[in-house]
Parts: sequence; C-alpha cells; structure tokens
Amino acid sequence: MGLDAKSAIGVFDSGVGGLTVLKEIYRQMPWESIVYFGDTDRLPYGNRSQPEIITFVREILDWMASQQVKMVVMACNTSSALALEVLRPYYSFPILGVILPGARAAVHQGKRIGVIATPATVKSNAYLNAIRESSGGAAQVWQVACPEFVPLIEQGRIFDPYTKEVATDYLRPLIAHKIDTLLFGCTHYPHLAPLFGQILPTEVQLVDPAVSVTRAALQELSLLGLSHPYPYRQGQTRFCVSGCPEQFAQLASRWLAQIPIVEKVVPSAVRLTS
Ligand code: DGL
Repeated sequence: MGLDAKSAIGVFDSGVGGLTVLKEIYRQMPWESIVYFGDTDRLPYGNRSQPEIITFVREILDWMASQQVKMVVMACNTSSALALEVLRPYYSFPILGVILPGARAAVHQGKRIGVIATPATVKSNAYLNAIRESSGGAAQVWQVACPEFVPLIEQGRIFDPYTKEVATDYLRPLIAHKIDTLLFGCTHYPHLAPLFGQILPTEVQLVDPAVSVTRAALQELSLLGLSHPYPYRQGQTRFCVSGCPEQFAQLASRWLAQIPIVEKVVPSAVRLTS
C-alpha cells in the first residue's frame, strides 16, 4: 500500500530530547500530525553499544510502520549516528536523521566547530566525518562526550547548580580551542541552551540540528507529494513512551506549555522487518 499524505509523521527519541524537534515541526509545519515516541524505559541510549541501539531502533521503526506513518524523523542523534544507514533500506517510508542536516548547518555558521554529544555519537565520529565532508575539510572539529547531561535533563535538573558545574567542565576544552560554533549533537542539549549562554563567549553561535532536519523533512514531503493536503488545519500529536507516561507528561509540560496525554506502548511487541 502506498503512503498517505494524511498520515502522521513519526518522531522518536530516547526521551524528552526529541521535543526540541517536535517544537520545530510545530513552528515550520503546524498542519502535520505527529506520532511521538520516547523510549524512556531504555534511556539513556548514549552509553549503549551499536548492536543494542540497532535492535531498539528497529523495534521502534517496526512500531512506526504499524502506525502507518508517512515518514520518520529520527530525532535521536545517537540513533541517527549508529542505526540510520543500517536500517533505512528495510522500510518503505522515508527516514530522516539529524547528522547531515546538523553538520551542514554548523558548516554554514562557522569554521571552528565544537560538537557536544553522547559518548556513542562521539565514538561513531558521525558528526566529525559529516562536518569534514560538508566543509571540504575547511572546518576544524572538536568533540566532547557529555554522559551526564541526559540523566540531568530527564530528572528536570536544568537549573541545578551542579548542572552548571558539569556544563562548565564539558565546555572548557572547546572554549580553549576558541570554537566559533557549538553544535548540539544530542536532542536533549538545546534544553540547556540558556545555561550554555552563561558559560560560552558571546560570539559562539549555537546550532540546533532540529531546525535543519525539519526544513529537510518539509522539502522531502513536498517532493514526494506527501505534504498534508489541508495546510490550514492544526495537526494533532499523539505522545507514546515505553516508560512511565505520568513522568514524561510532567517533564514534557515544561516545554510544551500544556500537560500532554501520554500512552504507554511496547514497540518490542511488534516485529515486521525480516
Ligand atoms: N537524545 C538522544 C540523542 O540525541 C539520546 C540521548 C540518550 O538517550 O543518551 O542522542
């Protein structure tokens, strides 16, 4: 069966990080409906091995297929870095990751680029390679793995003094390298943008791949004839998590300005790919 322009776009992350991408979708294409999945039961992804991440992402994509989405935006950088290329051929809907759009946006912004990401994303060198390729080798790149950020953000400890101490430590080597651009290589980190603004020199530009991946999704939907046919309507969002729905709803309400209704789902119960 072909893809239906009236279907929803699937967006997934390990937790609340993907809300930064969701908000960009609300801004750039508010008429589209979304199925959001946060794999909160298995978070954080950033300390896991590639085989584990591929298994989880495959289960999520199978579940997204069972929901008949017309496209998936892999908001999670760790999944985009370690599982996207491996799994993309198995699905009939387009799947967009954040690495290439993020790298291109950073290259557009500066020449001395700092990347902060999960340990798994840093180890994959996905951003390093994509930035070097996109800049023709003209941009210099420094990466810092930030394993403490995701648990702190998921615990809602954004304004905790300890979080500022941790952020100062992570950013110190990048400041020493005189970066002109900081790329958020994890969807959770834009939630800390106000904190980074207090630590970084004012001339450092912050790049959030959410903006460019959403632009890419908008263009691809249009190219494929899959943009929602009624652009004057307001799309709906369905929130699903693998962990505690109440906990996610409470945390998400900080960024969504409303308490969402959240369902618990178990993607591993669905198996479509062979
Ligand atoms: N927010 C995800 C990312 O963009 C994963 C964070 C995690 O679960 O460690 O990489």
